[in-house]
Amino acid sequence: MADGERPRLAWGTRTFLAFAVVVAASVLSAAVVALIVGPPLFHEHLLELGHTGGSAEMAHVEQAFLDAGVRSLGAGLVVALGLATLLAWWETRRLRRPLDELAAAARRVESGDYAARVPVGDGSPEFDALGEAFNGMARRLDATEESRRRLLSDVAHELRTPLSTLTAELEAIGDGLVPWDREGHELLAQQAARLQRIANDLNDVSRAEEGRFELDRHPVPVALLVEQAVATFRPRYAAKGVELSGEADGGTVVADAQRVGQILGNLIENALRHTPPGGQVRVAGQTLRGETRITVTDTGEGLTADQRDRVFDRFYRTDTSRARDAGGSGIGLTISRSLARAHGGSLTVTSPGPGTGATFTLTLPGTTLPTS
Ligand SMILES: Nc1ncnc2c1ncn2[C@@H]1O[C@H](COP(=O)(O)OP(=O)(O)O)[C@@H](O)[C@H]1O
Ligand SMILES: [Mg+2]
Repeated sequence: MADGERPRLAWGTRTFLAFAVVVAASVLSAAVVALIVGPPLFHEHLLELGHTGGSAEMAHVEQAFLDAGVRSLGAGLVVALGLATLLAWWETRRLRRPLDELAAAARRVESGDYAARVPVGDGSPEFDALGEAFNGMARRLDATEESRRRLLSDVAHELRTPLSTLTAELEAIGDGLVPWDREGHELLAQQAARLQRIANDLNDVSRAEEGRFELDRHPVPVALLVEQAVATFRPRYAAKGVELSGEADGGTVVADAQRVGQILGNLIENALRHTPPGGQVRVAGQTLRGETRITVTDTGEGLTADQRDRVFDRFYRTDTSRARDAGGSGIGLTISRSLARAHGGSLTVTSPGPGTGATFTLTLPGTTLPTS
């Protein structure tokens, strides 16, 4: 113990001492009052009964009264102190358990074990509230840690493929095994572009997490947004044999056209990836009660209820291995939803179930109804 530091008593001891002080103080004040008030009153009663003041008999009776009083008060003090000890021990034991559990769980979290939880529901409401708050905090840390782990492993995985292709190609060229021609150049440029895309995505993810997107909003016809998004994907849809259609009413929305294009592009690309050849994808823009709703509906794989809840999570993919091969990193929808929210709108999904297609709905406020 350092100099000047006061010795710290255990909580149980302090509780007992507090109980004991209260009991002793109560008994002592009762004794003082009784010894001050009692004897004169007793003396008066004796005089009233006809005893002569100062007689040996009266002195004896008074002494007996005083002795009895002191003895019973003493016995009372001992019994009360005994009870206080029992009560303090019982109360301390009752309160110590949840505190000990909480301290142990907090220590586990401190050492990096975010799975630590405390039991809730068998203590007093105050301890239950504390336990719930602690469990909520641990759950949140656990989720953050898990997504950080996934972020790092995903980033590493995403970078590995283009980097190894680039390295192999450059080595082959360096060794003179492959000529430096147009085809080789394209391959390198493609991999570099992929690295660029990953870097952009990661930048968007961190912005999305912090909710900071700078939007360049202007009035833009909804039909134009739909048309542009659809046009970009026509060749890829044709190549896979999936039908793509786009339609919109004459409404106008105040939005960042490029960012909305990014959201629609992601939805249309996802729909293509998850719809088998022969399927259909329909993009429809509609102006309703001051808001614009753009839906992307496909006839593809669909989503289970659990998947519907999670598709907007960072790096969530329903089929990890295949989605990775196909180039998806599971952050498109996370970014899209953040962008929709940055506009004051929303992005939601519905699906009747696996195999029955899905509908993603982008809602944007700041809409002017079509002028007729
Ligand atoms: N139209 C869709 N039909 C079925 N599943 C989808 C659809 N769109 C998205 N998903 C699921 O949501 C996941 C997350 O999508 P997204 O964030 O765009 O990531 P990515 O496209 O990189 O995989 C996808 O991996 C896929 O499992
Ligand atoms: Mg995507």
